[in-house]
Amino acid sequence: MMEKFVCRSEAETIEAARSFAESLSPGDVVALKGDLGAGKTAFTKGVADFFQIDGDVSSPTFTVVNEYNGTLDIFHFDAYRLENVDIDNCDWLDDYFFGDGICIIEWAQNIEAVLPKGYYEVVIRKNPREGENCREITIEKTER
Ligand SMILES: Nc1ncnc2c1ncn2[C@@H]1O[C@H](COP(=O)(O)OP(=O)(O)O)[C@@H](O)[C@H]1O
Ligand SMILES: [Mg+2]
Repeated sequence: MMEKFVCRSEAETIEAARSFAESLSPGDVVALKGDLGAGKTAFTKGVADFFQIDGDVSSPTFTVVNEYNGTLDIFHFDAYRLENVDIDNCDWLDDYFFGDGICIIEWAQNIEAVLPKGYYEVVIRKNPREGENCREITIEKTER
């Protein structure tokens, strides 16, 4: 099943993410794919908001992973600089991916090979023909 949202502001993207987050359970992995400025961090804010985390969400560009604690633990990754992770070298990631928190990963395309089976794939695309703030978001649960 594929879900699709068309969001015309950052607030609408956050709201879409908040409603998507209702279907998440402990241990789920959310892979965010989209270019710079697409809205991956905005989407993460909506998910974090649903789980009532305290504090701010920001791209963990230099730390690789930020942890937020709310009604569930959320591990927010930025895989922008993780291009060289391979299946033989990802035990530290597995500790997160097979744990009880929610993992949400920006630039997930960079670590596709080490993602666990059955993650939520969230693709965010700009559609400039519909205005500079238009984002098309598709969400699908993979079986790969
Ligand atoms: N519909 C929209 N959804 C999300 N962000 C939007 C939207 N329209 C405009 N923006 C702007 O685009 C930028 C998205 O930034 P961010 O979420 O950090 O992107 P990413 O993490 O993908 O690089 C923000 O400056 C935000 O205000
Ligand atoms: Mg970001």
